[in-house]
Amino acid sequence: MKVAPSILAADPLSMGCDVQRMVDAGTDWIHVDIMDAHFVPNLSFSPALTEALHERFPALPLDVHLMMDEPEKYIDVFIDAGASVLTIHAEIAADVAALLDYIRSRGVKAGLSVKPGTPAEAIRHLLPHADMVLVMTVEPGFGGQAFNPDMLGKLTALREMGYTGLLEADGGISMKNVALLRQHGLDVAVMGTAMFSSADPKADMDAIHAL
Ligand code: DX5
Ligand code: ZN
Repeated sequence: MKVAPSILAADPLSMGCDVQRMVDAGTDWIHVDIMDAHFVPNLSFSPALTEALHERFPALPLDVHLMMDEPEKYIDVFIDAGASVLTIHAEIAADVAALLDYIRSRGVKAGLSVKPGTPAEAIRHLLPHADMVLVMTVEPGFGGQAFNPDMLGKLTALREMGYTGLLEADGGISMKNVALLRQHGLDVAVMGTAMFSSADPKADMDAIHAL
């Protein structure tokens, strides 16, 4: 399986070095959390950081997770900044299917994320529009929270509904629970705290890649 370290857990004053450490360890993607202080009670990064990462690491896929009420205002901005995967939430007011189709039309993978309280059934009609489903395993907004094991059932439910695209999970994922997630059909593990505080990220990534 693939790993996407979340830079929310990096040292903001050493961002370039911290991402380089993940690249040297063999990371697949880098996960960029964008928070608007409305959809979630926190603020994070600007499009400028995504652009700077893309310029410094042009071959590194940037997995941009828009935790925003109105992502439609920023889809072009983040695609132009260099996102390879762009994820929006199912819980927003906009026409989510149309936004996913638009992201795809720009040649970027379209991701659809669900908060813990949103059941798999609620996104059944959107699955044909998504290249990836991101199951939140914590309430979005902050790193370092505890993994919610009830979300394993959502991964299984999505597969049982016939969804064959990429499955990603985000929140509280560590070397202790990543194998269990894989057993439930996970393809991409977002890991913030666990990866940036790891004593040996290369050993951890090698183990994840072997799952
Ligand atoms: C939470 C973010 C996550 C967060 C995960 O709202 O979407 O990407 O950075 O952090 P950890 O792995 O520390 O739970
Ligand atoms: Zn995220």
